Amino acid sequence: MKHSLVTIANLTKEKIEYLVEMAQEFEKYPNRKILEGKVLATLFFEPSTRTRLSFETAANRLGARVIGFTDPKVTSSTKGETLKDTIIMVGGYADIIVMRHYLEGAALYASEVAPVPVVNAGDGANQHPTQTMLDLYSIYKTQGTLENLNIHLVGDLKYGRTVHSLLMAMRHFNPTFHFIAPKELAMPEEYKQYCREHGIKFVEHEDFNEDIISQADILYMTRVQRERFTDLMEYERVKDVYVLKAAMLEKAKENMRILHPLPRVNEIAYDVDEDPHAYYFQQAKNGLYAREAIICDALGLTIEDVRNDKTIIL
Ligand code: CP
Repeated sequence: MKHSLVTIANLTKEKIEYLVEMAQEFEKYPNRKILEGKVLATLFFEPSTRTRLSFETAANRLGARVIGFTDPKVTSSTKGETLKDTIIMVGGYADIIVMRHYLEGAALYASEVAPVPVVNAGDGANQHPTQTMLDLYSIYKTQGTLENLNIHLVGDLKYGRTVHSLLMAMRHFNPTFHFIAPKELAMPEEYKQYCREHGIKFVEHEDFNEDIISQADILYMTRVQRERFTDLMEYERVKDVYVLKAAMLEKAKENMRILHPLPRVNEIAYDVDEDPHAYYFQQAKNGLYAREAIICDALGLTIEDVRNDKTIIL
């Protein structure tokens, strides 16, 4: 059945595991014609490199065609066209809409008015569910499980939508979270309350050092989200609060992996790139397979359809 993906909070444990399994199928054979004849629209009201390009790559590698825009300034929204009208109209052209918007709740609204499935590619500081699916796929690939992991979230936990979505998704897998942030960027109370309500263990820290890193299975670094600050002086005060350097990894567990949704600014020094714990570029690549799975699932294709698919291009 066709359906939208607006929030990770609606996905069951079984559905998450199913999408991880489907992503594995696509990693084995990413090039197919299973979506031949379909059109995917990418509507990006905010900048993006990875999310848009990996969705477009996914569509292209599966035989679909892509329409869309990367800058709302070149669309009729500058003439006053509403989001509702834009979505209804694009829904008449495309089979599926992938949308990033600066307003929290925009994806939910779009999914309610669209005649086709809508995939949320990020709505303000709220949710980024497809990033979460690639994060989960990356965690599964590197740890061999999603269960019982120590996950350290570092940096901008206030505005970083990827960490909000990740903690919601992990509620099924008995994690222990470590929230590492300065007071100004601490995990918002609503998400801590979510943890309490769902029995998710968490510890808060302001220090970021070797001893704290030594406990991590996943060290999830984040960028301080400059674009969400109303007071740029405050941004200047906190922007370089934590910088991960290779020397800080000496006590890290051998199988610990460093994730980052990217783009990075200063929060991971370049000397970390050569460290075996670094995984963020592979993580971004995993986005292709995760998004191939998400597009197919939203369009109503099942894992059996993918396994039985005879259109693989080697
Ligand atoms: N991780 C992520 O959302 O990157 P982009 O903003 O480049 O899409």
